[in-house]
Amino acid sequence: MITLIKEPNHVQEQPTMRLASWTGVMKRSLLREMLAVASRPGILSFAGGLPAPELFPAKDYAEAMAYVLENDARALQYGPPFIRLKEHIVELMARRGVACTKDQVFVTTGAQQALNIVARLLLNPGGQVIHEQLVYSGLQQAIAPYRPEILAVPTDLSLGMEVADVETHLANGSQPAFIYAISEAHNPLGVNLIHERRQWLIKLAIRYGVPIVEDDPYGFLHYDEEPIRPLRSMDDNWVFYVGSFSKLLAPALRLGWMVVPETLIPQLTVIKEALDLESSALIQRSVAAYLDTGRLSSHLQRLRSEYRLRRDVMFTALEQHFPDSARWTKPSAGMFIWVELPAHIDTVELLWTAVDKAGVAFVPGIAFCAGGSPVNGRPVSTAASSLRLNFTNSTPEQIEEGIGRLGELLDHYS
Ligand SMILES: Cc1ncc(COP(=O)(O)O)c(C=O)c1O
Repeated sequence: MITLIKEPNHVQEQPTMRLASWTGVMKRSLLREMLAVASRPGILSFAGGLPAPELFPAKDYAEAMAYVLENDARALQYGPPFIRLKEHIVELMARRGVACTKDQVFVTTGAQQALNIVARLLLNPGGQVIHEQLVYSGLQQAIAPYRPEILAVPTDLSLGMEVADVETHLANGSQPAFIYAISEAHNPLGVNLIHERRQWLIKLAIRYGVPIVEDDPYGFLHYDEEPIRPLRSMDDNWVFYVGSFSKLLAPALRLGWMVVPETLIPQLTVIKEALDLESSALIQRSVAAYLDTGRLSSHLQRLRSEYRLRRDVMFTALEQHFPDSARWTKPSAGMFIWVELPAHIDTVELLWTAVDKAGVAFVPGIAFCAGGSPVNGRPVSTAASSLRLNFTNSTPEQIEEGIGRLGELLDHYS
């Protein structure tokens, strides 16, 4: 007879923790993993979306911070959004060609929080969202908990989002919670949405009653002619404008804003309270004190001239070192150039080789692929053989060196 030996209690299997069901479909943060590789010592990295640290206005900001700490006891206290900061934001918006009032300004802890807040306001579980096939990965993360149905639209690398495809989705009866657009200096594509398409998009938003979330962290970093006005300048009611101090001053401030229909401020306030109660009073007040000094204009001029130089050095290096079969966007603003390589080159594989053999990093295109089903039978995007290059976080010498090394590597792939 076989005797079954009972397992002692202490080795009984532990129950597994039940996570929220959406985490089962949570995507790995490919971008973060790749950025970790790119930040190995000695690597020339064009991967991160980082500003140039040597251009941070650290000295001026330190003065503003010291002044606030010495003179304003409320800077270390809980408190409502700082009105003086909102007034500065109204002025900044006027520089972007947007007329708004301080009552339409909603302060956030970075643009990323703004995206989370707006998703919480507009999106139901399982609801639909229209965005481009290649899209800022932070947007994908902000909406993922709702397990949305993505209505993907392609992007023309010269003209921006294919608004005709947006119209097809809407005319087919889709009822998306919102349309997400980066109208200026698209991340990752570096393209601007042309004026006619902006007007068309606004018309669609109004006709179908679908809000647009306009994400504009790069609009102040323009290098050629004055940029065209944001979508928010064309309509007050259907556009949630999202701005950020990350690229104007420094990302570590974690300060951003929205310009929204005024009637929604109470709901937005409740949502934000659930997330972090409020954005840091110290940061709001010290940024306002920095802006009070009037030094932002000259700081922005310096950023623009240095980034323009770096962009142009990267254009020239790409011309010299990349194969004739490659093509790339020519951004007039922002931080990124998008490069399409011949279809047989897998840029994830290329990244590992580039890091190991050439000591150079970039972000492979698939890190920005959102899936979803395209309409109008348009071709599937060429993301697998594309890559994103950042030109703001490397010196001109590093850009020449790094693009040269990548070009040499690509010679072996032709
Ligand atoms: C398109 C886009 N939106 C939002 C953000 C997040 O910005 P913030 O640092 O203000 O949270 C980024 C950051 O790179 C971005 O590229």
